[in-house]
Amino acid sequence: MKSMVDLSHEFIRPVLHKQAICVDATLGQGKDTDFFLSQNVHKVYGFEIQRDVFESTKERLGNQRTCFFHVGHEYMQDYIHEEVDAIIFNFGYFPSGDHDITTQSSSSVSAVKQALSLLKVKGRMALVMYPHESGVKEAKCIEELLKTQENIQVQKVQNLLVEHCPYLLLIEKRR
Ligand SMILES: C[S@@+](CC[C@H](N)C(=O)[O-])C[C@H]1O[C@@H](n2cnc3c(N)ncnc32)[C@H](O)[C@@H]1O
Repeated sequence: MKSMVDLSHEFIRPVLHKQAICVDATLGQGKDTDFFLSQNVHKVYGFEIQRDVFESTKERLGNQRTCFFHVGHEYMQDYIHEEVDAIIFNFGYFPSGDHDITTQSSSSVSAVKQALSLLKVKGRMALVMYPHESGVKEAKCIEELLKTQENIQVQKVQNLLVEHCPYLLLIEKRR
C-alpha cells in the first residue's frame, strides 16, 4: 500500500501546473519540494527552523524556482505575498535528527490558519500528521481548528488497524 506521503502527493498533483505557487511548510530534507519541482511548478516556498537541515537542503535544491526561509512556518504570511495553489505540511521531527526539535501545537495551529488564508479557491493542502507523544495534542488542536472553518472540505485518511501511526488530512478550499 502507498505511504501517507505518497497519498499526500497524489492528492496535491491535480492542482499543480507550470504557473503553480507551492509551499513546503516543513522543508526538512526536501522530499515534498522534490515532488513539487518534479511537477514543473513555478515556485516553491520552503520553511525550516533547523539551520543545518535548512542549509543542506538549500544547497541541494536552491534554484530560481525555490524560495527557502530559515524561519518557522508560523511566520509564513510575513514571507508569502501571493495566493498559493498547494501546501504540504509534514509535521513532527526530522527523522535522522534531534527528535526534541519538533513541530508544536500552537505554532502549527497558527501556521495552518495562515496557510488556509493564503490558499486559492480550489487550492489543495495536505497535512501529514504524526500522533506520537506531543503529536497527539498537536493533531487534536489542528483538527479542532479545521472543524471551525466554513470554506474548506476535509477528508481524513488513516490506518484502521494500527494506533498512533501517521495519518493524512486532505483539504480543498471552496468559495
Ligand atoms: C517530518 S520532518 C519534515 C520532512 C520533510 N518533508 C522532508 O522531506 O524531509 C519535520 C520538519 O519540520 C521542521 N520544523 C519543526 N518546527 C518547524 C516550524 N515551526 N516551522 C518550519 N519547520 C519546522 C523540523 O525541523 C523537521 O525538519
